[in-house]
Amino acid sequence: MRWAASCAPRALASSTRRPSPMESPMPLRLVQLLLAAYPSSYRERYGAEMAAVLEERMASWRDLLDLARGALDARLDPQIDPPRVLAAAAAIPPASAPSPALPVPRAPYGVVASAPPTGELSRRVFMRRMLAAGVGLLSLEFIAGTLAFTWPQVRSGLGGKFGLGTPADILAIQPSWAEGWPYPYTKARLFLINVPAAKELALGHQASVKSPSADQLLALWRKCPHLGCQIPQLCESLKRFTCNCHQSTYNILGEKLKTGPAARGMDRFEVSIGDDGGIVVDSSKVTAGAPNLGPDALTFKDPFPWDAACH
Ligand code: FES
Repeated sequence: MRWAASCAPRALASSTRRPSPMESPMPLRLVQLLLAAYPSSYRERYGAEMAAVLEERMASWRDLLDLARGALDARLDPQIDPPRVLAAAAAIPPASAPSPALPVPRAPYGVVASAPPTGELSRRVFMRRMLAAGVGLLSLEFIAGTLAFTWPQVRSGLGGKFGLGTPADILAIQPSWAEGWPYPYTKARLFLINVPAAKELALGHQASVKSPSADQLLALWRKCPHLGCQIPQLCESLKRFTCNCHQSTYNILGEKLKTGPAARGMDRFEVSIGDDGGIVVDSSKVTAGAPNLGPDALTFKDPFPWDAACH
């Protein structure tokens, strides 16, 4: 009966002023459609009564909203409330009533009897709470994900310093590094190039350089300068790098060759060797790869054609 209190003053006021647009009568067809939106059990129990009430009080557009809301509630939980319009009508005398002061008739059904027992949630309340909890959880996930994505990863991700170990440590993991094969260091997404050995490898010679100096090391960032795909290991046939995304091709020192859309060579990080002999890469210090100015601008040429790419 909670609707009675809010609706009764409206009915009283309507007898002394012009009806607002919300209170003007609504088409009968619309009323019928809204009544049809109620569950069949509702229509059987309240249908005739609702139609009579709406006809008697000239249903307004405000009643339309009440009907629509009541239909939604009835679909969510057909056990709890009677239709809102009917509940309101229980407290509103018909337009032809002689005086609003007459006793208000009671609705011919029991609302309290169908309410859930004290201390138990109705299905509607339960669903609303679950919906609110779901929305809250999604919002939290979104906020946490955004924070995690934007939080600076200075110590453990790119932008920090990485100790790769001594040359002996690297050779223990990958002996072919002494022969010129790039050492992939995945934490910093780089290839560590042993330059003198790598040149020999690209020229088809056998090499063994086990302890290069700092200026003989290159730390090539594996992020392709074109659109950022990860550049794979050298191909066996040419000893060149070819990006799998759009075939940009680089020589063993990361210089851009003819094939592919990248405009420059692979970027590189600063490399140093500490007092303990360990190789340190500072990924916060990046030097952009040299622009592609043609074969004559290369600092190193392998024996293959300028436009050859790995397949
Ligand atoms: S991302 Fe490497 S060539 Fe396009």
